[in-house]
Amino acid sequence: MFSRILEVKHSFIRTTIPITNRSMSTIKELAFVNGKWISAKNKATFPVYNPVDGQIIGHVPEMDASDTREAIDAAHDSFQSYRKTTAKERSDLLRSWYNLLVKHSEDLATILTKENGKSLNESRAEIRYGNSFIEWYAEEARRVNGEVLQAPVRNREMLLLKQPVGVAGFITPWNFPQAMIARKAGPALAAGCTCVVKPAGDTPFTALAMAELAEKAGFPPGTINVITSSVTNSVEVGKEICSNPKVRILSFTGSTQVGKLLYKQCASTMKRLSLELGGNAPYVVFNSADLDLAVAGAMASKFRNTGQTCVSSNRFFVQEGVFEKFTEKFLERINSEIKLGDGLKEGVTNGPLINENQLQIVKDLVEDAVKKGAKLHCGGKVLENLGPLFYAPTLLTDVTKEMDIYKREIFGPVAVIHKFKSEDDALREANDVNVGLAGYFYSRDISQVFRVARKMEVGMVGVNEGLISCAEAAFGGIKESGLGREGSSHGMEEYFDIKYVCIGNVENSNFIN
Ligand code: SIN
Repeated sequence: MFSRILEVKHSFIRTTIPITNRSMSTIKELAFVNGKWISAKNKATFPVYNPVDGQIIGHVPEMDASDTREAIDAAHDSFQSYRKTTAKERSDLLRSWYNLLVKHSEDLATILTKENGKSLNESRAEIRYGNSFIEWYAEEARRVNGEVLQAPVRNREMLLLKQPVGVAGFITPWNFPQAMIARKAGPALAAGCTCVVKPAGDTPFTALAMAELAEKAGFPPGTINVITSSVTNSVEVGKEICSNPKVRILSFTGSTQVGKLLYKQCASTMKRLSLELGGNAPYVVFNSADLDLAVAGAMASKFRNTGQTCVSSNRFFVQEGVFEKFTEKFLERINSEIKLGDGLKEGVTNGPLINENQLQIVKDLVEDAVKKGAKLHCGGKVLENLGPLFYAPTLLTDVTKEMDIYKREIFGPVAVIHKFKSEDDALREANDVNVGLAGYFYSRDISQVFRVARKMEVGMVGVNEGLISCAEAAFGGIKESGLGREGSSHGMEEYFDIKYVCIGNVENSNFIN
C-alpha cells in the first residue's frame, strides 16, 4: 500500500500540468483569488494523488488562515459591485459559464476521474449533473421577485425585498468534486452573492478547472475564489471561513460530524447555514415490488461512485416474501456487472475508494460483521492486484444490531440486506437513526406508496426509483442530515435576506389595491 505522506514543498517549480490531451490541455497548480492565479503566501504546496495507483497528479498550494482571509476580503470587495448587477447580467454570466462547462465537459470528466477515481462514464454523468445546476440558476436568476404586501392600515406601502446575503463560503467534498460546487455556486452567483470555495484536498483540480472557465466566462475578479488546502490545514481554513464576519453564509457538504463542528463555529458570527450531511439511506423492498426494477435501483443507488455518496442506499430492508429472490438477483448483477479498474479504461464501471482512511473504515466494518456472524455472499476483501484502494463489491446478510455496520453509514461498495415481516417493522427500522437524507422503497401498492412516502423520516424519497438527484429537485435532509435545500427554486432562497420595507404616510396609497 502506498503511503500518502503529506509532502509539503516550499519551492514552486511548475504552475501548470498536462492532464488531458484535449482543448483544456493544462490545468493550474495554483489557487484562484481575486482573478489571479496565486500560490500560498508561504509557498507551501501539497500533492494530489490518483487513487487508482497512488501516483501524484500534481501539487496545489497549501493555504492557511491568512490566505483564506485574503480570499474572503477579495470576495467581500467584489460583492460591493457584483451586488449591483442586474439579474439579467448575472443570468448571462452563468449562461456563458454553463456553455464553457459544456464545451469542456470531456476535459473536466478526465480531470475528475484522475483525482477521484470514478469511471469516466460516471464523471461524464457528474459533469452533466453539475452543469445542469448552472443552467438552472442562469434561468432562475431572472425569476426572483420580492413582494408588495397589503398594508393593514391606510396610507402605508409595505414591501418585501430580496437581497443577496453577501459572501458565501463553500466547503465541498471529494465525492462530487464538480457537482457540489456547481450546486452551491449556481444559486449564490444568481442571487448576487460572491463566493470562496474550499474544495476537498483530495480533489482540488476539478474546482480549479471550473474557476478557470468562470474567469473565461467573464465573472469579475473576486466573485469566485478557490483556495486549496490538504487535511493538514483544513481545520484552520474551515475555522477562518466560519468565524470571519465578512462571510454571511456557509454551505457545506460532508459528514454530520464535521457539519456539527462547523455549525458551532458559525455561531460566533451568526451565519446562515446550508448543510448537506450524512445519509445512511434505507432502501425498502416490499412483497409487491417489481423485483427487477428494485434490483436495478439497488445497483444504481448502492454502487454509484463505489458507494461513496450521501444518498447511497446503506441499509436494505427486504420483505420476507421476496427476500431470497431479491438477494439472489442482486448478487447475480453485482457479480456480472461491476468491473473495477482505472476509470479511464474502457468498460470499467467502478473505481477505488478515495483514500486509505475510507478504505480502512470499510474494511473494519466488514471484518467486524463477518467476525460476529454475518453471512458474506461476495467480496469482503481488498483487491490489491488492481491497486491499493480497490475494495471488492460486497454483499452481507444476517447482520445483527451488535455489529458496527448495523447503523453506520458505510460510504463504500458494501450492501447489507435485512429481512422484515411487516410495513410497520420496515418503517420502524428505517427511521431508527439520527439522520434522514434520502430513502427509497419499491412497491406497486398505491396506498402503500403514499403511506410509506409520508412516513419515511427523510428529506427525499425515491419510490420505485434509485437515482433521484437533479437540478429541479429540492435536495436536502431532516434530523442530523442537515439544514436547507439545494437545487430547485428553494436552493436560491438560502442566498437571500428578506428585507421588509414599511413606507408610512403615503397619501391615498390604499386607494386601489
Ligand atoms: C452527495 O453525495 O453528497 C450528493 C449526491 C447527489 O447529489 O446525488
